[in-house]
Amino acid sequence: MWDKIKSVFSSKSQTDTEEAGEKEDTEKHDKEKVSEGEEEEAEEEVDQPGMWEETFKTHADTKPNGPSSISLDFSLPGVEHVYGIPEHADGLKLKNTDGGDPYRLYNLDVFQYELFNPMALYGAVPVLLSHNTHRTMGLFWLNAAETWVDVSSGQVGVCTDVRWISESGIIDVFIMLGPRPNDVFTQYSSLTGTQAFPPLSSLAYHQCRWNYNDQEDVSAVDQGFDEHDIPYDFIWLDIEHTDGKRYFTWDNNKFPQPKDMLQGLLDKRRKMVTIVDPHIKVDSSYKIHTEIRSRGYYIKNKDGGDYEGWCWPGNAGYPDFTNPEMRKWWASMFAYDQYEGSMENLYTWNDMNEPSVFNGPEVTMHKDALHGPWEHRDIHNLYGFYVQMATAEGQIQRSGGLERPFVLTRAFFAGSQRYGAVWTGDNAAEWGHLKMSIPMCLSLGLVGISFCGADVGGFFKTPSAELLVRWYQAGAYQPFFRAHAHLDTPRREPWLFGPDNTALIREAVRQRYTLLPYWYLQFYHAQRTGQPVMRPLWVEYPEDIATFSIDNEFLIVLPVEIYHMFNQPDTFSSSDLLALLSPSQVWYDVHTFQRHDGAQNLSIPVTMSSIPVFQRGGSIICRKNRVRRSSSCMENDPYTLYVALDSQGNAEGEIYIDDGHTFKHKTDKQFIHRRLSFTANSLSSRSVPLTNIIIPTRPCSPCVSQVNILGAQKPDAVTLTATDGGESSVEFEFDPDTAVLTLRKPGVNAGVNWTLHLR
Ligand code: GLC
Repeated sequence: MWDKIKSVFSSKSQTDTEEAGEKEDTEKHDKEKVSEGEEEEAEEEVDQPGMWEETFKTHADTKPNGPSSISLDFSLPGVEHVYGIPEHADGLKLKNTDGGDPYRLYNLDVFQYELFNPMALYGAVPVLLSHNTHRTMGLFWLNAAETWVDVSSGQVGVCTDVRWISESGIIDVFIMLGPRPNDVFTQYSSLTGTQAFPPLSSLAYHQCRWNYNDQEDVSAVDQGFDEHDIPYDFIWLDIEHTDGKRYFTWDNNKFPQPKDMLQGLLDKRRKMVTIVDPHIKVDSSYKIHTEIRSRGYYIKNKDGGDYEGWCWPGNAGYPDFTNPEMRKWWASMFAYDQYEGSMENLYTWNDMNEPSVFNGPEVTMHKDALHGPWEHRDIHNLYGFYVQMATAEGQIQRSGGLERPFVLTRAFFAGSQRYGAVWTGDNAAEWGHLKMSIPMCLSLGLVGISFCGADVGGFFKTPSAELLVRWYQAGAYQPFFRAHAHLDTPRREPWLFGPDNTALIREAVRQRYTLLPYWYLQFYHAQRTGQPVMRPLWVEYPEDIATFSIDNEFLIVLPVEIYHMFNQPDTFSSSDLLALLSPSQVWYDVHTFQRHDGAQNLSIPVTMSSIPVFQRGGSIICRKNRVRRSSSCMENDPYTLYVALDSQGNAEGEIYIDDGHTFKHKTDKQFIHRRLSFTANSLSSRSVPLTNIIIPTRPCSPCVSQVNILGAQKPDAVTLTATDGGESSVEFEFDPDTAVLTLRKPGVNAGVNWTLHLR
């Protein structure tokens, strides 16, 4: 084992040294450090270059505590499929790393990352899931130092061996025994917490680019969405909005009246996000810097001075977010009177929090930098976690504890789900990157981080109109839905690609908006139970081996919606999906309502205008079909229920409603949570036991204004039994071609008991 560790670390340092073209003889230094008594044992170690001091290009890691590493091997008999340990731009199922590099977990700001590569990216969650038809299990290697994971086939029979190697720390491992996938999620969330319940609007569409140039630009883009009838909730400002990359400030020329700008958005019930990175410009006239310095909150270099590195603002200090006092102070900077120009509809984006240090080793911090008594080496992968934690806390505090925060982070660790959303960093406008967004987000969901998305359109390079449209269609069905683009790319607001493409993008975004009640319900559950929102098929079909490697299709939580991402050319062959499900399974195309029965090979042509999404028979989902300019504008709109009958003519679902943005659902139990069930030709709404507290005050608000029953037969009559027992008849229409029964204006309150009977 030690040989392996040595070879991993020494081969790494060798490569590094070679790359730098500066082979160093550290033997002399090593010898000086070895005390006499240890000579014999140490002799072997002396042979390993880099043990007492390592070099990488022009950087030195002084290793004042000497060499260290820990490792443990696990054998997983009977297991062929393992998943997790994000973040890597690789398939969902982990590959055998024999003969190649292990998966690396070391948060890094990677320029133009490669696909199908175990190299480290921005975030690290040291959690691996194993799965076979009998059992799902989890391994949580709680260590925030640089970590490598080797996956290999065991020596005897079907077996997977997993070797964890970390540079420092102690062995602290949690084994989550399952046995079902959902049990592992529950067990893991009991250790690290569940996904924060986001404000509803943050599940809607976000418009970002590096950069929206000034207030006029923001206003023109905002206007553009209205003119083209495309909804959006958040517009984002990247680093150029600041005064010289001094976060918490505004460029006075470009954004002279930030409050006017925010008020303008607020009037339209829209919001903004500004970027607040954790590198702080060293500038004695910049308050944030002088305060951090005078309070001693900066990370120190090995000699005890403030650690300084190069980032967007030039020379910068890095606040020590591992210090609770620092986090408290940082949180207080989001108060409205501290962050000048901020308002309640301004939220935050934490980027570069690996941390990124342009002139540091591998573009990050020196490992011998100090966080109080701890070396950066020991906590590296936790830095970004603490940045997002402090920022989310700041947003909660500024509202007096009332409002739920929204913070996006690039770096993350186990437990980051408690503080907001993550995205997959600087991808590229390429088909491969679009495809990769699915396994990357699925892997994150498996380890608790449900609120994940990829830059729609691709960050680097310029997407063709077709790729951009396809990316919108995919992004509309992924948890965090934000378009973003690099500073050097041509503008790509949705209306810049001709009317046909604008229409396609509009349709994709509108589909997202109609489904927001469903997304919101799933995030409500994720917060309570730790279950992932975007799920690989094997999680729902744990005994079906054919699902174990699928990562171009997924489910949004329960087997309700399914989505298959297409590649060019555009043909969706369902042979790997519908056919493998049991003959009793029924799926409905959500656009045409066409019914597909399981166990048959189908080939469904996919045109530019179709997004292959299916609702499972046996489920009920709620939509809001009247799309307005933002999700907040749709707050009081009525719901349409889609009741998709299974082969026995039954269906089940839920509806969850609260104010969409405060903690009152928790503190005051102000929410509606109903179970909807269709059985024996009756659809009823009942309170989920012990959860429904809100008493609707108006007769039909929130209102169910339409019910579509898919796979139905024509009834003779439909009647409604209201809470008070009163009966009334309900108008309906039946389409024999699609077998859809539409109940018009049943006028039922979503928050009370009622039953609709088909006679
Ligand atoms: C990083 C981020 C990117 C952002 C840029 C400028 O590259 O990943 O999203 O636009 O920095 O802030």
